[in-house]
Amino acid sequence: MSSFDYDSKRLDQKVTKGRFDGEVAIVCGGASGIGRATVKRFLNDGAKVAVFDLNAENDFDEDENVEVYQTDCSKKENCESSVSSVISDFGKINHLVYSVAYFGSKALDATEEDWLKSLMVNVAGAGFMISAVTPHLEKAEEKRRSVCLLTSISASQAQWHRWTYGATKGALMSLVRHATLELGQKEIRVNSVSPSWIWTPEVAKAYPEKSEINSKTGPGQTYHSIGRVGEVDEVAASICFLASRDAGFIHGHDLQVGGGYHALGPEGCQPAKFAGSTDSLF
Ligand SMILES: NC(=O)c1ccc[n+]([C@@H]2O[C@H](COP(=O)([O-])OP(=O)(O)OC[C@H]3O[C@@H](n4cnc5c(N)ncnc54)[C@H](O)[C@@H]3O)[C@@H](O)[C@H]2O)c1
Repeated sequence: MSSFDYDSKRLDQKVTKGRFDGEVAIVCGGASGIGRATVKRFLNDGAKVAVFDLNAENDFDEDENVEVYQTDCSKKENCESSVSSVISDFGKINHLVYSVAYFGSKALDATEEDWLKSLMVNVAGAGFMISAVTPHLEKAEEKRRSVCLLTSISASQAQWHRWTYGATKGALMSLVRHATLELGQKEIRVNSVSPSWIWTPEVAKAYPEKSEINSKTGPGQTYHSIGRVGEVDEVAASICFLASRDAGFIHGHDLQVGGGYHALGPEGCQPAKFAGSTDSLF
């Protein structure tokens, strides 16, 4: 965990301090990765944060503005009881971020259990959480109510052997579109963020060294025209932007945070010759 830079000072976090003063955010999946970086950014920006995660360890440096609620988000009753606890502890809820994922991926070999787990954790859990928080979000101050779901490039791009995971990410994008209607009427904005490859504990299982993933032949350079994988704080910054009043008219949007991945076609990142081009172009 220590190799992950959750306290990056590279971004504009100095200038956003205080923008969530007095607000409360729930970050599901906030114990690790993108969710954890999002907790940190919300705290930096003045919010109090409730972390819902299977992992109940509160290792947020004894910050009194964070509470961790052990929650299995794939269980409706568990979501509801943890939301009630947040209301008892903090009195209100302004924002929901759903960063939970079951990464298990199967294709032709998927069992009923594989499909059910993927759908319950990745999709139904988001639905349970939206249902549980909506009565509280609609009581929060106007313009300070939002929902953000974590989708993925896997929602829109074909990837080998990722049926069960990719299909759930596509379903989340669809959920955002449908939810704009009911939530919009309550002036709650709902959006998603779809990251490409981000340097997280899950990605590090396949590529333990960042130098390897960002090498000339690694996914950093071959899949991203910006030449590297993303950092968790870069995704967190986009999530918190969508929660902020600066995004007050953004509703039903999927924000791609992908370092150019989403723009690539079959030609990839490499220069290619075509009729009309000259070698000197390259
Ligand atoms: N890492 C990437 O490159 C990447 C790329 C695209 C999309 N995403 C998406 O971003 C989100 C975060 O990914 P990450 O890599 O930071 O993940 P992560 O594994 O670091 O964090 C996920 C957290 O969710 C928690 N969790 C898992 N199942 C749960 C459940 N049933 N109830 C409550 N908590 C549960 C885990 O304990 C963990 O703390 C996911 O939705 C993922 O699909 C990640």
